[in-house]
Amino acid sequence: MKGSQEVFMEQIAFVDSLRTGFALIDEQHALFLSMLTDLAAQIEAGHHRQGVLDAFQGMRLYADGHFSDEEALMDARGYPQLPAHRVQHDAFRGMVAELENRLGEGVGLVSLETLEYLGSWFIRHIRDEDMRFATFVRENDAASS
Ligand SMILES: [Fe+2]
Ligand SMILES: [Fe+2]
Repeated sequence: MKGSQEVFMEQIAFVDSLRTGFALIDEQHALFLSMLTDLAAQIEAGHHRQGVLDAFQGMRLYADGHFSDEEALMDARGYPQLPAHRVQHDAFRGMVAELENRLGEGVGLVSLETLEYLGSWFIRHIRDEDMRFATFVRENDAASS
């Protein structure tokens, strides 16, 4: 039988079907998901709170940087749905900031389920929203060539 850790890693693995075709974005998506996996491993291994908090902070900063890069790219490409896309990024930023506060206050460690939730949110976002942008760019480039 598989452990919860293994199941988790499969659920949030970066797979080829998640590629948008933007090398930087794809790299960031893959790295973010592997940071989540590392964090889950730390929690499972019973690491002390400071270690988990540091890893969580790293993950939050990384997500933040990714969202900014992505929004800048969308802006540069004149993506009309950028405002709606940004709302989604902000929702994620809010969730993660809230969790980090709770962790910092020592309310307890973030559960594997919570990380799973963040991971599946992120994957769904790539699949539905980041891909929509990739399609927009492809169609736009095709129309203008
Ligand atoms: Fe993204
Ligand atoms: Fe996005």
